[in-house]
Amino acid sequence: MLNEDQIKQSLEAVLVPDVRRSIVGLNLVREITVSDGKVKVNLASAALSESAQDWVSTKAREVIGKLPEVKEVTVEFSEAKPSEVNKISYIIAVMSGKGGVGKSLVAGLSAVSLKRQGYEVGILDADITGPSIPKMFGINDRPTGSASGILPVLSRSGIEVMSINLLLPSEDDAVIWRGPLIANTIKQFGEDVLWGKLDYLIIDLPPGTADAPLTVMQSFPISGVIIVFTPQDLVEMIVKKAVNMTQKMGKRILGVVENMSYLYVPEIDKKIEIFGKSRAEQMASTAGAPLLGQLPIDPELAKLCDEGGIERYNGEIMTTLGKAINQAISAKVK
Ligand SMILES: Nc1ncnc2c1ncn2[C@@H]1O[C@H](COP(=O)(O)OP(=O)(O)O)[C@@H](O)[C@H]1O
Ligand SMILES: [Mg+2]
Repeated sequence: MLNEDQIKQSLEAVLVPDVRRSIVGLNLVREITVSDGKVKVNLASAALSESAQDWVSTKAREVIGKLPEVKEVTVEFSEAKPSEVNKISYIIAVMSGKGGVGKSLVAGLSAVSLKRQGYEVGILDADITGPSIPKMFGINDRPTGSASGILPVLSRSGIEVMSINLLLPSEDDAVIWRGPLIANTIKQFGEDVLWGKLDYLIIDLPPGTADAPLTVMQSFPISGVIIVFTPQDLVEMIVKKAVNMTQKMGKRILGVVENMSYLYVPEIDKKIEIFGKSRAEQMASTAGAPLLGQLPIDPELAKLCDEGGIERYNGEIMTTLGKAINQAISAKVK
């Protein structure tokens, strides 16, 4: 017997142009009714332009029409904003005490690692002072959309990416905006981007533990924060500030990641702690949160990031980081 599940399954094959994610994955399917071989599908219009809606509607009729017992198919759209459609299980913000410690890199690696674990992942570049996420992922496409919303751009491995950098006329246009304007833009990214169904949304916060990251965090229902640091950092100061900030907001620190922990020299099979002794254990215990990973200084990784090929990286962290994040998020809050 023809049923709704069967129809929904067939709609997995209907991809929204540009994002190339299915209307099911984007959570656009609102209602399916079947009676006597007559199928009616109601879809949310969120962020879909008229031509995208036409395309989706044609495709949907086509795939449903191929199912046995189907006599008639009607596809309708109803108005809905992306914020009404989005269903994100966990939003994780990546924070650092200062710039240049590899915050964006860790945000990117977290997304890639989680994706490789089989999760649906998005990444929001909220570091307007230096948006580096699109570059790392080799993304230059401009996002498309409609009056009611914007579609994210899909990376090569299927991660949804949104960054203000993608909306600027040229990649080199510096964003010299005042605080409130930045805050508003970021807020819009939460409300107007059609993320659809995601297991994880990773947010690359602006650097520091002052106003900018706080404003961004307030715009999203954050599940937890990851702190990135290097062995050079003043552990106490950074952690105290970050802990204060997250506690003030009623959020928790999911874990810490140490970047540039060491350099591995294969010729002598040794790890050299170039920036001094690792502070990983100390940082984790001061933060009262697990150490999610330690990242070596890796010239191969730097090269891949420059080339936009972060998704090709195969360091050990790629398997461990996603698992650690997943474990931390499902751990009971003390
Ligand atoms: N572990 C590492 N190995 C090699 N290069 C790194 C490493 N961490 C960071 N880098 C390089 O340092 C630069 C700064 O990193 P980024 O993540 O953009 O810092 P932040 O976001 O904290 O300002 C990038 O060009 C990146 O490729
Ligand atoms: Mg950055």
